[in-house]
Amino acid sequence: MEKIGLFFGSDTGCTEAIARLVRDLIGIDKVDVYDVYDIKGDEPEQYTQLILGLSTWHDGQLQSSWDDYYSKFHDLDFTGKTVALFGLGDQYGYSTYFCDGIGVIGKLAEKNGAKIIGNWSTEGYEHDDSKALINDDTFIGLCLDEDNQEELTDERVHAWVEQIKKEFGI
Ligand SMILES: Cc1cc2nc3c(=O)[nH]c(=O)nc-3n(C[C@H](O)[C@H](O)[C@H](O)COP(=O)(O)O)c2cc1C
Repeated sequence: MEKIGLFFGSDTGCTEAIARLVRDLIGIDKVDVYDVYDIKGDEPEQYTQLILGLSTWHDGQLQSSWDDYYSKFHDLDFTGKTVALFGLGDQYGYSTYFCDGIGVIGKLAEKNGAKIIGNWSTEGYEHDDSKALINDDTFIGLCLDEDNQEELTDERVHAWVEQIKKEFGI
């Protein structure tokens, strides 16, 4: 089986921990994990199935490694690729920018040809707005809130990984 490429960026380690959990749940031998801090080129184009993970900082800004990589990412061709996204944020502290990062990155990947999977219900979250929304009831990907709902993370990640495994067809 062709491997999945998982690309994450993390300022304080929360997204990194989730990236490793997602990899472990899918299968350590099935996923190549990259810290976006370490990539400079078109590494994501080597994969047809991708998982992208990032946190949001400073009122809706991309996590710093993704922010640095953004101009390169902007020009990647996602034609024929399937992409799932997970994001971390703080729904109470940054209620109008909750998990904006995956909205920005996911919608750009979609514009550049990706099929997006792993959409996630907004049920159980309290936020005023988010660029991660694709409609009133649905986020583009899994949103996690380690600042306020840490106790829900494990269950959410397990359910989401089962969902994307089906959607990836693995
Ligand atoms: C200064 C600061 C700004 C933040 N801005 C946002 C934001 O705009 N939107 C959001 O959803 N979360 C925001 N957060 C919350 C972080 O995204 C959250 O703590 C996340 O778990 C950090 O993950 P990381 O360690 O992988 O970078 C902010 C946190 C801090 C400390």
